[in-house]
Amino acid sequence: MHLYRDSKNKFEYMASYGFRGLIVPVVTAFHDNLSLNLDVISNFAKYLLSSGIRGVLVSGTTGEGMSLSIQERKDLIKAWAEAVQNTKQHLMVQIGGCPLPDVLELARFSEKNGADALLCLPELYYKPKTNQQLIEYLKVVGDAAPNTPLFYYNFPLMTNVTLDVADFLNRSVDQLPTLRGVKFTSSDLNAAQEALNAASGRYTIFLGNNTLISAATMLGFNSFIPATLNLVPELGHQLLEAANSCDLEKAKQLQNTVTRVTKIVGATGSLIPGIKAVMNAFSPIKVGPVRLPLQNLSDNQLAELESALKPYM
Ligand SMILES: *[C@@H]1O[C@H](CO)[C@@H](O)[C@H](O)[C@H]1NC(C)=O
Ligand SMILES: *[C@@H]1O[C@H](CO)[C@@H](O)[C@H](O)[C@H]1NC(C)=O
Ligand SMILES: *[C@@H]1O[C@H](CO)[C@@H](O)[C@H](O)[C@H]1NC(C)=O
Ligand SMILES: *[C@@H]1O[C@H](CO)[C@@H](O)[C@H](O)[C@H]1NC(C)=O
Ligand SMILES: *[C@@H]1O[C@H](CO)[C@@H](O)[C@H](O)[C@H]1NC(C)=O
Repeated sequence: MHLYRDSKNKFEYMASYGFRGLIVPVVTAFHDNLSLNLDVISNFAKYLLSSGIRGVLVSGTTGEGMSLSIQERKDLIKAWAEAVQNTKQHLMVQIGGCPLPDVLELARFSEKNGADALLCLPELYYKPKTNQQLIEYLKVVGDAAPNTPLFYYNFPLMTNVTLDVADFLNRSVDQLPTLRGVKFTSSDLNAAQEALNAASGRYTIFLGNNTLISAATMLGFNSFIPATLNLVPELGHQLLEAANSCDLEKAKQLQNTVTRVTKIVGATGSLIPGIKAVMNAFSPIKVGPVRLPLQNLSDNQLAELESALKPYM
């Protein structure tokens, strides 16, 4: 508690991170010339809300955040911050994956524009080799936005940072006053559960996996950030409702469908271009192409996807 001595109110605010449930890691829309398309954001937010989604993650992996310039990331944050003023959705912003001075600028900018939470990757080039190094980095990030809950983005498949997350959380208690949890993107449910129980269970763990939602609820998870929900937001919402009300048969069926959709799109070899192409084909939100180094789907791939997914859309 001494960590918050500069303001009692701040402690009370920071002590409570109230959001639980589903956050959709939204894709970022581009025009055909690959410039940022901010015009769709307000309708995108409403579309997700009408499907029961109360939270969005902007500029994450699915959102091609690491393919945007800092100015573009700011423009994107601003546009989403305006959109969620109407929809009252929870706004989590991914600020990492760029040089530290830019990460800090994005942290300050997000806080100023009313982000509800920050998510931060580890440094991707000079990777942390120990949890202490990771904590020192995130301490500077947290200090740049002292009134906004901070989450660590654990995604070993992409970052190759494979530090023990439970140990990280245990060590963070006395060192990272703004840390509120982790986005745990991995299929290692055992390690995820250790993170959930670390530090006497005080942290919120968002599981970032599409296919393990119903299984993870059995282990006590109640918060998820699954990319496939850009395509089938209402299925995700129904799935979590079913799991929370112990309708296990329904949860299993809905999970099977979300998994089928994920596998069909993933079978193209590239989930993010697939998600965008399928949204362009089936959803009311037109999100355009992907930026390099990702590759747009070919016409053939798209035709195959469309016919395979038609039953689910
Ligand atoms: C993806 O499609 C857009 C729009 O047609 C195009 O501008 C862009 O060059 C394409 N990207 C690649 C890598 O081919
Ligand atoms: C890219 O396309 C959009 C939409 O057509 C247009 O508004 C914008 O000016 C274009 N940008 C460039 C750099 O050509
Ligand atoms: C990931 O890191 C390990 C060591 O921590 C290294 O052996 C391995 O080559 C790395 N893989 C990639 C793809 O960088
Ligand atoms: C999610 O879990 C599935 C099943 O274990 C796994 O195949 C997939 O790689 C996981 N996805 C990520 C992003 O970890
Ligand atoms: C973290 O702390 C918990 C107690 O809250 C303990 O049971 C667990 O073993 C610790 N994990 C690690 C990896 O240090």
